[in-house]
Amino acid sequence: MNGNGIKRRSVAIIGAGPGGLILAHKFLQRKDLFDVTVFEKQADVGGTWIYCEDTEPNKYGLPVHSSIYRNLSELHRYKNFEAKFQNHVFEKVQRLPVIPYFDNLTNLPIATMEFDDFPHNQNPSKYVSHQQVLKYLQDFAHHFAIKKYTKFLHLVTKVSRDDDLWFVDYRNLETQESFTETFDVVCICQGRFSVPYIPNHIPGLNTFKGLKIHTHTYRVPDIFKNKRVAVLGGGPSGADIALEVADVASETYLCHTVPKNGNFYPFGDKIIQTGAIFKSVGEDSIELTNGTVLRNIDAIIFATGYQIDLSIIDPSCGIEGGEGRVDGLFMHMININYPTMAYLGLMERIPVFNVFSQMAKYFVRTLTGEAELPSKDEMILDLEADRKERQSLNRKMKHSHRMFCDEMWRYDEKLSILGRFKPLSPLTKALYDKCLALFEGETNYKDYQFILNYDKGTYVALKKMTMKLD
Ligand SMILES: Cc1cc2nc3c(=O)[nH]c(=O)nc-3n(C[C@H](O)[C@H](O)[C@H](O)COP(=O)(O)OP(=O)(O)OC[C@H]3O[C@@H](n4cnc5c(N)ncnc54)[C@H](O)[C@@H]3O)c2cc1C
Ligand SMILES: NC(=O)c1ccc[n+]([C@@H]2O[C@H](COP(=O)([O-])OP(=O)(O)OC[C@H]3O[C@@H](n4cnc5c(N)ncnc54)[C@H](OP(=O)(O)O)[C@@H]3O)[C@@H](O)[C@H]2O)c1
Repeated sequence: MNGNGIKRRSVAIIGAGPGGLILAHKFLQRKDLFDVTVFEKQADVGGTWIYCEDTEPNKYGLPVHSSIYRNLSELHRYKNFEAKFQNHVFEKVQRLPVIPYFDNLTNLPIATMEFDDFPHNQNPSKYVSHQQVLKYLQDFAHHFAIKKYTKFLHLVTKVSRDDDLWFVDYRNLETQESFTETFDVVCICQGRFSVPYIPNHIPGLNTFKGLKIHTHTYRVPDIFKNKRVAVLGGGPSGADIALEVADVASETYLCHTVPKNGNFYPFGDKIIQTGAIFKSVGEDSIELTNGTVLRNIDAIIFATGYQIDLSIIDPSCGIEGGEGRVDGLFMHMININYPTMAYLGLMERIPVFNVFSQMAKYFVRTLTGEAELPSKDEMILDLEADRKERQSLNRKMKHSHRMFCDEMWRYDEKLSILGRFKPLSPLTKALYDKCLALFEGETNYKDYQFILNYDKGTYVALKKMTMKLD
């Protein structure tokens, strides 16, 4: 019991990536009410932002977690570029510390990759490298002393429920000892971009003699030098990696049907965009759905996205999954059957860090009684309404947690009303909307710099002049 007679509750957080870290911080702000334990299978905090060059199973036999590739982005190249250009005059009157364009930076400027009470200490208008994101997460964990509460190299193997308690089974990877502990509250923050989806149903795929990899284990383009490469899938990974591979490959095909703004990516003739996907595969050929046959193909890169892995979730938890969806969650997060469980990290196409902050705040406040949690029936109705709306818009089942257009802001508005706190700032929203529009409309969207005016809640977007390297 704390001083006010409220029962203390034990909290298990599974994963110390961005989701687990922000939840840990929000719980630790109420140390009077919660005892926090974070379980992390890796040796440090940072989740997918811990770049791992070696993609083989690690010494504990676990598959690599991170899907980050090396050039997202090369820091040494970045440093050289900054040094090289520091005296250059740029397009606009302001002599901004503009960085030259190169492809594989984060897809958002860091102002839209920021937790609510931990601002970046660098120019927030920039697209940054994965190393800088990791540094931010490590600084965050250090600042809020989260590591003290984290069991590193501990793999959670099962979460189940009995007798109003959560049972967490876990293994110390170093000693191989297994344990079971009970908790009052549990948070699943295991990430959703680590288990690759490969369309194994494509006829003939097993007969292909060349190299086959998924973007999850792609790190560098070197192995594709002088090869004829077919990339399947036109999401952010497919587009990013095809561009990079095309620099070294003899021919690169991007096989997708995803138009951006009514057109395919404006990649010029560097990449052949097929407008069709794989129908069948032979020993060194690929037949596409439009009848075209790609011949003498040396390598296939599957950029076909990821599966949600629910293998640690026992059926007794009261949520279930399938087809890229986890069913039974209110606001894509709170277990409707047992609202002392949160699943953070399912939503796609969102400013992750900013939205995670709002979600974490809401969940903790539902437990302290500061926020409203609707009744079970109301939550079921809400979920049903979301499902019906998505169905009426012909959305794919696997996009059940994807936010389109202003859905993100409606979601945030609702969360803030229920949680009794402020919604995301107009500046964050405007900046994120602008980034999406740029992403839809321009390949070189990272050519932009933003000058932010926090007081006025406005920004100015500046495009850099084309700079030629000597
Ligand atoms: C290639 C790529 C590029 C991206 N670029 C951007 C970007 O530019 N901007 C952006 O905002 N987002 C980007 N993202 C999205 C990215 O996933 C999020 O930024 C963020 O990392 C999600 O945080 P998370 O905590 O949900 O998951 P993760 O970062 O995956 O962290 C999950 C953590 O849980 C741990 N874990 C998992 N299972 C267990 C277990 N059973 N036991 C113990 N620990 C476990 C993992 O080791 C990991 O540390 C990108 C993703 C990918 C794949
Ligand atoms: N630079 C960056 O910041 C960066 C780079 C890479 C990734 N990311 C992030 O990483 C996350 C994952 O991105 P992702 O591109 O790996 O996955 P994704 O967004 O799920 O995209 C996968 C693509 O493959 C398509 N696909 C799936 N199965 C297919 C099949 N059988 N045949 C043809 N196409 C198929 C999908 O189409 P449907 O969905 O229509 O089925 C989709 O377009 C995203 O959140 C993204 O923002 C960021």
